[in-house]
Amino acid sequence: MDRTLTSAAGALPRHIAIIMDGNGRWAQRRHLPRIAGHRAGTQSVKSAVRNCAEKGVDALTLFAFSSENWSRPAQEVTQLMELFLSALQNEIQELHQSHVRLEFIGARDAFSEKLQQQMREAEQLTAANPGLHLNIAANYGGQWDILQAAQQLALRVEQGTLRASQIDRALLESCLCLSALPAVDLFIRTGGEQRISNFLLWQIAYTELYFTETLWPDFDASALQAALDAYATRQRRFGGLTVAHQAQA
Ligand code: FPP
Repeated sequence: MDRTLTSAAGALPRHIAIIMDGNGRWAQRRHLPRIAGHRAGTQSVKSAVRNCAEKGVDALTLFAFSSENWSRPAQEVTQLMELFLSALQNEIQELHQSHVRLEFIGARDAFSEKLQQQMREAEQLTAANPGLHLNIAANYGGQWDILQAAQQLALRVEQGTLRASQIDRALLESCLCLSALPAVDLFIRTGGEQRISNFLLWQIAYTELYFTETLWPDFDASALQAALDAYATRQRRFGGLTVAHQAQA
């Protein structure tokens, strides 16, 4: 992960991660079933992808389904799976034409074979695209990510190809999801809650956090711009001094 030691002043984040929260409440307020909120949320996904691509953001990582979302009522889980499948089928060609590179992060073996197949095909189709790198976190959890990295390293130690003393921050980081991408600069959570909910953990060590009351289906281009404007005013120090403070020292 590349970490540029400057303030964010005026800058565009290279990598944005979003917890898309509030679909259920959006539907509830309209006396609609929760799935209607998720469907409306799909439109916000399209808008966020289009806007990030147009602005030149390198990577967008969206939390579509957490490791904990399986505990929702079976009907909602099934409807969400159907929605993911149809969204993939409907949008993949347009994403490809827009040069988006699509990848999924998370324990995908829990999904139906049909959905896994669609995920693989979408990744293969778009693998060489030079545009926005779109990561969909599905059956993802930040703790799961760190655990699977630890297991990869433990296996290499067990096989005798790695010594425990060789494990450092960079090596562990290289085993985590998103390690090939720029560090996450901006983390957005919609829907009013102010927590991380086991989304990216290691990857957001120095990330700027932005929380908004806006429900995900209402998160349009102007809501994204408000988040980008807030980011542009942040002074990033990564544990050190800002550029201005360094000049004074
Ligand atoms: C959280 O809202 C949202 C989800 C668990 C699902 C997110 C899914 C989408 C935005 C649909 C489309 C996604 C893709 C990638 C095509 P919530 O249900 O927890 O809302 P609530 O807090 O108001 O109940």
